[in-house]
Amino acid sequence: MGIGGRRMRARISGTGMCLPERRVTNKDLEVMMETSDEWIVQRSGIRERRWVSEGETPADLAEVASRTACERAGIDPEELDCIIVPTLSSQYEFPGTSFFLQERFGGTVPCFDLRAQCTGFIYSLSIANALVISGQYQRVLVCGAEVHSTGLDKSTEGRDVTVLFGDGAGAIVVEAAEDDSNPAGILDVTLHAQGKYAKKLWVPWGSALFPERLNADALDERLHFPRMDGRHVFKNAVTRMPEVMAESLDAAGVKKPDIDLFLFHQANLRINEFVANAAEIPAEKVRNNIQRYGNCSAASIPILLSEAHDEGLLEPGKLVCLTGFGSGFSWGSAVVRF
Ligand code: ACO
Repeated sequence: MGIGGRRMRARISGTGMCLPERRVTNKDLEVMMETSDEWIVQRSGIRERRWVSEGETPADLAEVASRTACERAGIDPEELDCIIVPTLSSQYEFPGTSFFLQERFGGTVPCFDLRAQCTGFIYSLSIANALVISGQYQRVLVCGAEVHSTGLDKSTEGRDVTVLFGDGAGAIVVEAAEDDSNPAGILDVTLHAQGKYAKKLWVPWGSALFPERLNADALDERLHFPRMDGRHVFKNAVTRMPEVMAESLDAAGVKKPDIDLFLFHQANLRINEFVANAAEIPAEKVRNNIQRYGNCSAASIPILLSEAHDEGLLEPGKLVCLTGFGSGFSWGSAVVRF
């Protein structure tokens, strides 16, 4: 219950995105490592991704995406009550990227990073929803921001991971829904995790286990680059995503055919085609952008939301299902009415 015993609802009132200008095609990667456009397109669907230029930071991308989301929500960033930045590629070890974003807006609004990797956006949506429906805050910004490119192994040794990832930011504003005649709202968010697979997709570097976190041996062993058991990730993603989607639809009291738009995390086009097939979702109800941006982890789903807004797909009344899977393992799904 919210203030005065009235049940509070939270809705998404604005979306925004920012991609770096620099396009990196599969042909560009062929120059850096032994790979091919054909291999990458066939296995992942990716044709190009955006990588930052030197000096461009996660907070730079996050600021542009967040300002657009606020503008579309009809508020000034100064009016936000809380800022959440889901990210797996933080600007510094600490403090979190959220503090460098908060600095751009001034003031003393609380902010924090949330670490749930590619499911980070869905986890953050759940927290933002809870903060609003509890009555603690009125307007919460969630901005997924990732700069992966500076942390990827661009030699042939790292090709299985490196070809998949891109940089970008996507943001939403979650607000209290005060108009009872407007049914817009976050109907459900369902989350899961399975830490026993933490090392199936991870970066060992910087571990508290190392006496000196930055040391030459670790560098020689290339521990600062992501490691992935791609097949294990693939198998779990295609099982967990339809499962959690069904759970969330059930919890929201919504049937699959009622959903207008399904937006999946963009890890691999083959994963998403598999999930859509398994869940019997018609292709025209699914939007992907991995072909152009690669996997932007916590930024992928909010970027999709912002593009859907630009295409006029988030008109009032539209029902959207968001589903993600990522390192941790972590996975989750949400149902949102616009
Ligand atoms: N270019 C060319 N060849 C490559 C590349 C590359 N970029 N990467 C790997 N290969 C080679 C391998 O070395 C291997 O060669 P070998 O047979 O001589 O040993 C061969 O291609 C096949 O490798 P596989 O690993 O069997 O390829 P697979 O068909 O499994 O596809 C892929 C690999 C695309 C990574 C797939 O497993 C996948 O998509 N997994 C899910 C990955 C994912 O989604 N990760 C992120 C999700 S979670 C998150 O977003 C944080």
